[in-house]
Amino acid sequence: MPDDRKDREHQFGGAWTTRKLEVLAGYLQGYTTALKKTPFQKLYIDAFAGTGYRENRRENEEDSPQNPLFPDMAEPEPQSFLDGSARLALKIEPKFDQYIFIERSPERCAHLESLKTQFPGLANKIDIRQGDANAKIQELCATDWRSKRAVLFLDPYGMQVEWKTIEAIAKTKAIDLWLLFPLGIGVNRILTKSGDIPNSWRNRLNLLLGNEDWYDEFYKVEITPTLFGENKETLIKAKMETIGRYFNNRLKSVFIGVAEEPGVLRNSANNPLYLLCFAVGNERGKDIALRIAQHLLKEVR
Ligand SMILES: C[S@@+](CC[C@H](N)C(=O)[O-])C[C@H]1O[C@@H](n2cnc3c(N)ncnc32)[C@H](O)[C@@H]1O
Repeated sequence: MPDDRKDREHQFGGAWTTRKLEVLAGYLQGYTTALKKTPFQKLYIDAFAGTGYRENRRENEEDSPQNPLFPDMAEPEPQSFLDGSARLALKIEPKFDQYIFIERSPERCAHLESLKTQFPGLANKIDIRQGDANAKIQELCATDWRSKRAVLFLDPYGMQVEWKTIEAIAKTKAIDLWLLFPLGIGVNRILTKSGDIPNSWRNRLNLLLGNEDWYDEFYKVEITPTLFGENKETLIKAKMETIGRYFNNRLKSVFIGVAEEPGVLRNSANNPLYLLCFAVGNERGKDIALRIAQHLLKEVR
């Protein structure tokens, strides 16, 4: 195998990665089919695009497994030659009118550039934007969306997504969002049992959730009387289910429709890593979009 191909083709995660991508591909297929005869310009936006092939590990200082904000990959597996989200999207029929790939790493952007030669018929429809996903999406969402519709995939490793980005997406009323919420891999690790959370972690959670009321939602004080007439206070941390519901309700506060039951992406020990959340942008497409998404999500429990 050529070295540069080896470099590109690395695998991220295990069976859960396959399920995540199957859901995405299934939705994209349903989406372009449903919108085929509409006059809208149809876009696919991949904001943590990677290389085009499946990922296995991050290559920067944030990758330390000790860092729950940007956790390391779970379960690295042998290399494979499987398509990542960008290549899958390019293969979907009917085609989108434009493919926007956002990626922070310049090296990965160079790999994404080579998609133009791998898919020559789509070369002039592929738009690669190097930079931070939050900034790039907010910029994109601030443009005129009246004649456009899009599916946007947010597939971060950890807690990189900011709530104001999600709000900007919802505000377009034109974008359907698939988002990996870092439930087990990030948020649940930040919420320590003791309730002591370093400021940098709190700040990151504020950015991700878009408010600061989460502490009272996720921690309750249980008071139990002791035999000696005193009260004992115990801090009870919310279960992952509660954390997931909280986030899904946050999505409902800004989107016209949200899949009631997000997918749960679990590692081989059956622990939840991410929630696969779906939100609809436009009122008119809401029912069909939710129907397709919810059908696909049934397979991811
Ligand atoms: C989980 S991988 C994406 C995998 C890809 N969706 C796939 O299926 O092949 C996350 C990617 O996001 C990139 N990334 C990390 N932080 C970013 C940021 N703030 N903005 C844009 N890209 C970022 C990483 O370089 C990495 O390529």
